[in-house]
Amino acid sequence: MAEATKRHAVVTGANKGIGFEICKQLASKGIMVVLTARDEKRGLEALGKLKELGLSDNIVFHHLDIADGLAAPPTY
Ligand SMILES: NC(=O)c1ccc[n+]([C@@H]2O[C@H](COP(=O)([O-])OP(=O)(O)OC[C@H]3O[C@@H](n4cnc5c(N)ncnc54)[C@H](OP(=O)(O)O)[C@@H]3O)[C@@H](O)[C@H]2O)c1
Repeated sequence: MAEATKRHAVVTGANKGIGFEICKQLASKGIMVVLTARDEKRGLEALGKLKELGLSDNIVFHHLDIADGLAAPPTY
């Protein structure tokens, strides 16, 4: 039942900088974190760094470019 109430967070641009630090802090507090990045290689490298810190139980990687699908809408 505890799993049903576990908190989750999705962090964009998380392979470095503020996003990476947010992932680290949330996961260290027991929150389930989806670390996302637009570049799969950089994202998986960031995931590896957090796993080295012992946070692997609380972090998964998902590829996400927030600009995908943001092209200008068609004009009618
Ligand atoms: N650092 C500060 O003190 C500070 C203060 C106030 C506000 N901010 C703002 O907070 C934001 C993050 O700052 P930061 O210092 O952490 O910057 P950063 O180190 O440059 O990191 C930016 C992150 O966003 C990712 N990103 C850029 N475009 C993306 C897209 N289309 N889809 C997915 N991810 C994308 C980058 O991925 P790639 O590695 O693939 O480029 C990188 O992971 C910025 O908007 C910045 O202006 C920063």
